[in-house]
Amino acid sequence: MRRAALGLLLAAGVAAATAAPRLLDFGPDEIAAILSHGPWPPPPVRDPANALEGRPEAVAFGRRLFHDRRLSADGRVACAGCHVPATGFSDRRATASARRGEGPRNTPTLLDVAQQRWFGWGGATDSLWAASMVPLLATGEMAHTVPALASRVRAAPDLAAGWRRAHGGPPGQELPADDEVVVVGLAKALAAWQATIVSPRTPFDDFRDALARGDVKAAAQYPLAAQRGLRLFVGEARCSVCHVGPRFSNGEFADVGVPFFVPAAKGGGVDSGRHAGLRALQASRITRAGPHHDGDAAADPRALLTRQLTMEPRHFGEFRVPGLRQLGHTAPYWHDGSAATLAEVVRHYSLLDEDRLHADGERILRRLNLSPGQAADLEAFLRTLSTPAGSGRQRSTASPSTQTR
Ligand code: HEC
Ligand code: HEC
Repeated sequence: MRRAALGLLLAAGVAAATAAPRLLDFGPDEIAAILSHGPWPPPPVRDPANALEGRPEAVAFGRRLFHDRRLSADGRVACAGCHVPATGFSDRRATASARRGEGPRNTPTLLDVAQQRWFGWGGATDSLWAASMVPLLATGEMAHTVPALASRVRAAPDLAAGWRRAHGGPPGQELPADDEVVVVGLAKALAAWQATIVSPRTPFDDFRDALARGDVKAAAQYPLAAQRGLRLFVGEARCSVCHVGPRFSNGEFADVGVPFFVPAAKGGGVDSGRHAGLRALQASRITRAGPHHDGDAAADPRALLTRQLTMEPRHFGEFRVPGLRQLGHTAPYWHDGSAATLAEVVRHYSLLDEDRLHADGERILRRLNLSPGQAADLEAFLRTLSTPAGSGRQRSTASPSTQTR
């Protein structure tokens, strides 16, 4: 008994000795690439199209609305039912709902959502408030109509009062007569709250900042497997060509060969991704280029961008490049939730069938043929982009702090 325990202790000692902190010999280009993935949290960005952003009354109202089932036609569904705060603002299901013209899709996290340029896997909306209006009206989600939802808000004293306060109106003032303005106001309050949801710092951020300071000792605390995986990520595997910057996304769309055919069991057909998203965006009134911009749309480069978008064949089968923070809390993966684990995602890139890439112009990706050790390293690195399980209670930083935008 004692002997066995001593043996274990010795074995642990040896393991500790071989795992002594060590820093790989990262070159200047590698260090520059690594530093580009920080610092975290990023400086706040504010949406000039949404006057409610940053207003504490609107943030508080938006947070309440997010949990309020009255926003759904049957009174049973709240935003938080799919974007569950305790599981990284997603729902652990493969797919949640299929909107018109789209296949069934995985519920994306809302962490750091305000940093995005386009919303939804196909980019069907160009603002956080427009993205928050869609679920209110989508069948299979909240399934409301604009007039019915506006009447519900007018008839519920707490909702009407919350709406008024969020907009800075005096108590007792009538809500606007235009139903669409009332509903867009709800969406803008929801957005004001979601804009405060920032993911916490991770082991990668500590490593990155240690490198930036030249603190070798602190940097060497970062696991060696993660260092090797990071070297692959910014180097040979070219992941960081698309997964760029502090959020690990270029905010645009690409095709990585995830099938766009929808299995018969899930309704069949295809999900054309960016193609369907762009078509929906171009057909919608609820965009930055539409009538609900709170600022000067002519001076908003993003409104101009929306107007100038044109459909190209390569959009068919492209999906938005997701950010990679807090991945450990948001399984399953891909737009259709078809990868249950990070190991599966890494295997996909490793064994990529280049002939399957349907969009042209995707010359970045190639089959990596990773060894089992390399695949494990890449996964180990991806895991350091999340807070460890249990400690990662993501919360909104709605109280004034450096992380509130
Ligand atoms: C039935 C589940 C469900 C409900 C309820 C729901 N969502 Fe979603 N949400 C999704 C799915 C699925 C997507 C991806 C849709 C797509 O790709 O077009 C999404 C996308 C989003 C996005 C875009 C995120 C991104 O990364 O681009 C935002 C913002 C959002 N939802 C906010 C809300 C708000 C606010 C509510 C409540 C008004 C809500 N959602 C209700 C499932 C849901
Ligand atoms: C050409 C751009 C591009 C490159 C290069 C790229 N990715 Fe991706 N990545 C994407 C897109 C687009 C998706 C979403 C695809 C989908 O859901 O259909 C994605 C999804 C992911 C996901 C799933 C995230 C989620 O929440 O579902 C992970 C993890 C990931 N990539 C890691 C990597 C790694 C590791 C590499 C390098 C081996 C890499 N990516 C290279 C564009 C890229």
